[in-house]
Amino acid sequence: MCGIFAYLNYHVPRTRRDILEILLKGLHRLEYRGYDSAGVGIDGGNGKDWETNAKSIQLIKQRGKVKMLDEEINKQQDIDLDVEFDVHLGIAHTRWATHGVPSPVNSHPHRSDKTNEFIVIHNGIITNYKDLRKFLESKGYEFESETDTESIAKLVKYMFDNRESNDISFATLVERVTQQLEGAFALVFKSVHYPGEAVGTRRGSPLLMGVRSDHKLSSDHIPVVYRSTTKDKKGCTALPRSDRDTCLFPVDEKAVEYYFASDASAVIEHTNRVIFLEDDDVAAVVEGRLSIHRIKRTAGDYPARAIQTLQMELQQIMKGNYSSFMQKEIFEQPESVVNTMRGRINFNDNTVTLGGLKDHIKEIQRCRRLILIACGTSYHAGVATRQVLEELTELPVMVELASDFLDRNTPVFRDDVCFFISQSGETADTLMALRYCKERGALTVGITNTVGSSISRETDCGVHINAGPEIGVASTKAYTSQFVALIMFALLMCDDRISMQPRRREIIQGLRVLPDLIKDVLGLDDEIQKLAIELYEQKSVLIMGRGYHYATCLEGALKIKEITYMHSEGIMAGELKHGPLALVDKLMPVIMIIMRDHTYTKCQNALQQIVARQGRPIVICDKDDYETAKNSSRTIKVPHCVDCLQGVLSVIPLQLLSFHLAVLRGYDVDCPRNLAKSVTVE
Ligand code: F6R
Repeated sequence: MCGIFAYLNYHVPRTRRDILEILLKGLHRLEYRGYDSAGVGIDGGNGKDWETNAKSIQLIKQRGKVKMLDEEINKQQDIDLDVEFDVHLGIAHTRWATHGVPSPVNSHPHRSDKTNEFIVIHNGIITNYKDLRKFLESKGYEFESETDTESIAKLVKYMFDNRESNDISFATLVERVTQQLEGAFALVFKSVHYPGEAVGTRRGSPLLMGVRSDHKLSSDHIPVVYRSTTKDKKGCTALPRSDRDTCLFPVDEKAVEYYFASDASAVIEHTNRVIFLEDDDVAAVVEGRLSIHRIKRTAGDYPARAIQTLQMELQQIMKGNYSSFMQKEIFEQPESVVNTMRGRINFNDNTVTLGGLKDHIKEIQRCRRLILIACGTSYHAGVATRQVLEELTELPVMVELASDFLDRNTPVFRDDVCFFISQSGETADTLMALRYCKERGALTVGITNTVGSSISRETDCGVHINAGPEIGVASTKAYTSQFVALIMFALLMCDDRISMQPRRREIIQGLRVLPDLIKDVLGLDDEIQKLAIELYEQKSVLIMGRGYHYATCLEGALKIKEITYMHSEGIMAGELKHGPLALVDKLMPVIMIIMRDHTYTKCQNALQQIVARQGRPIVICDKDDYETAKNSSRTIKVPHCVDCLQGVLSVIPLQLLSFHLAVLRGYDVDCPRNLAKSVTVE
């Protein structure tokens, strides 16, 4: 996830200092979306005439948080901050790396060439960027970064260099670019060839526009211009540069400001009038007029975009309709697991590609054993996927808590492959275990959410889970994305084994429907809130399960402990008779996870044992499992999916339960006492 922000002033005189301040403020608001590097692109000239100043573009980019960019801007000698612009477009970006480590050259805006003819900011992932890059390199375009976005900047210049007429509009060029892109994007473009003009577009990633003017606007909506019905003078279906009937503008044609942003938090302090762009809209500002273009009208497409008035407070917008980042992140999971899989799984031919492992996969296939090393929730992701890893790789798989692994001086060999699973990529114990394994010559693989983190830099290869920044201290969406990333690895390991193909297909098709099933589970929120009302005054909660769901028990108990401060224990149901059963009576809250998989009959036995001790189990089970429902005091019914993926669904009710319990007990959900998001000390 990244944040994009752009600001265009039309006949509203602003100094360069004002413009930079607006851009940086916008980035600060979006920093929660990504904060490993940031950049701005502004007009470079220092003269009196804005149009001449717009003939050059200055890029300032820096690794680190927006604050670092601010410091870098203040160091620039060659830009005069007091120059006034009557018209100006500035674009800005805060990055959360997906392709290429955080560095100034990989930061946005990206440029078409060394003279910055076109620049672009991007949020999303372009999945066909390698093909585009190859094509553009074959045409002589030179690349400087490792990013997917740079191909977009080069492609728009290619379209410009190969234009059929000199009066082609900026919007037409951008539209031609988007037709070549696969993946997800929200983009804003700026160019020296189109001074004072801005073009933004989106597909799959969010983008909205804010409008501010003291003058009455020409309308409260903007009709959409369909290119298929718009012919230019030569009869080509090129987009018009601007058309009075299909534009938004202030009635006296003066003084208007436009903002583009990934979300409303960045514009609300300037204006509450916003337009939410739809996928494939191309929004262009030309001479202070905003018009919206699309290629053709499709069924269900309303041919106008309304200007909406936001009633929300800033804080509310940052968290959307959610009361905390943790809640927001729980509800983001249908999207975050898609982002983990995006461009990596082809559901048509059941293939998996993990670019970060491709040079090492043969070596991994030859190894003696796999060791998964992590802490906390990331460790649970290893426990959750161990069984399917063993099944599909046919290798011994050890799952280790990093601290204990080091305490034991665990023997590690050159032909071991060691995985380091970490959301932050900075956890001290995991990092030390990584160095320990490297010294012993093992191949090291990172599974992280933070490109450029110590673990992703120091491992030999790895997979970036692309879950987007996780702000709530209690990890939720990173867990399900780590889970999915490890499953993809298991699938890749057996892609050439004929005997495994039916199972591979079953799992891949299970991954295809997983985001929709997650949405269904999130629909249980009200029901779970009611359960939380019954439980929140209790001292203790036991969570029991086995097989694929033991990890869910551990993870559910950890979530409850860390944010509700209640005692909670994840118990392997197979161990009940060996001790934990003594805790059960009619007062002890017990949650069980019983799914229709190979452990079902054994779980039924455990259920009987609990009921026989007057326990009143609350059971998370399959939607149509009436047998289990008969013996439970309450059931939480989740949809059925492939056994090894079911853990992604069974953990979500427990994430929601811990959240509601914490709220009811009056605690700060995002910042539990004594805990930090990134544990960089032993
Ligand atoms: C629990 C939680 C922690 C982390 C652990 C490892 O909700 O977030 O248990 O999972 O501190 O952190 P990472 O994954 O950053 O290595």
